[in-house]
Amino acid sequence: MKKVNLAFFASHGGSNMQAVLDSINNGVLDAVPVAVIGNNSKSKAFERAANENIPYYHLSGKSHPDPEKLDLAMLDILKRHRTNLVVLAGYMKKIGRYTLKAYNGRILNIHPALLPKFGGQGMYGKRVHEAVLKAGDSQTGVTIHVVDEKYDHGPIIAQEKVPVMENDTVDSLAERVLQCEHKLYSETIAKIVSGEIVLATV
Ligand code: GRF
Repeated sequence: MKKVNLAFFASHGGSNMQAVLDSINNGVLDAVPVAVIGNNSKSKAFERAANENIPYYHLSGKSHPDPEKLDLAMLDILKRHRTNLVVLAGYMKKIGRYTLKAYNGRILNIHPALLPKFGGQGMYGKRVHEAVLKAGDSQTGVTIHVVDEKYDHGPIIAQEKVPVMENDTVDSLAERVLQCEHKLYSETIAKIVSGEIVLATV
């Protein structure tokens, strides 16, 4: 059977991408990492891509001031590498309309809270955990969803709850949620690859 080609959009630490790559390297996930795209040339995600011999591409508003050209350049890379599934892992920008259309239903994002709570524009990184602690919620979690034209909005395909402890700080909560993200992203992609979760046409 043809293997599923994964492309990652990652501009930060890349720990979620690394967790998925580890699952591939350990033989738990049957997929091929074909490309990494990011808008931050100094990101750890690029370092990780280089270590794994995965081609990586720095594309941003600086390299492509015209958003439409940026979108088309991204789409070209995805197509060139015969990408089947796009995995957003710490990519904070919106995906352009050409890429969204070409990969409709085949772009995943991970969010460190139980969407629709604590999501939307500006809700990323520590801000999410700060908001959860401020709200006094006893649980938070991780959401994996299909990407659409709005931030943190498309259909949810997996969610897992994470308890909030009484003495949690933003950092301790972020760390517990991140551990859950690593596990859930790999597991969910494995379910998509095996056909247990059905997306558009992976
Ligand atoms: C994660 O918390 C993820 O949910 C969010 O961005 C963060 C990326 O972390 N979208 P990393 O770059 O994978 O370490």
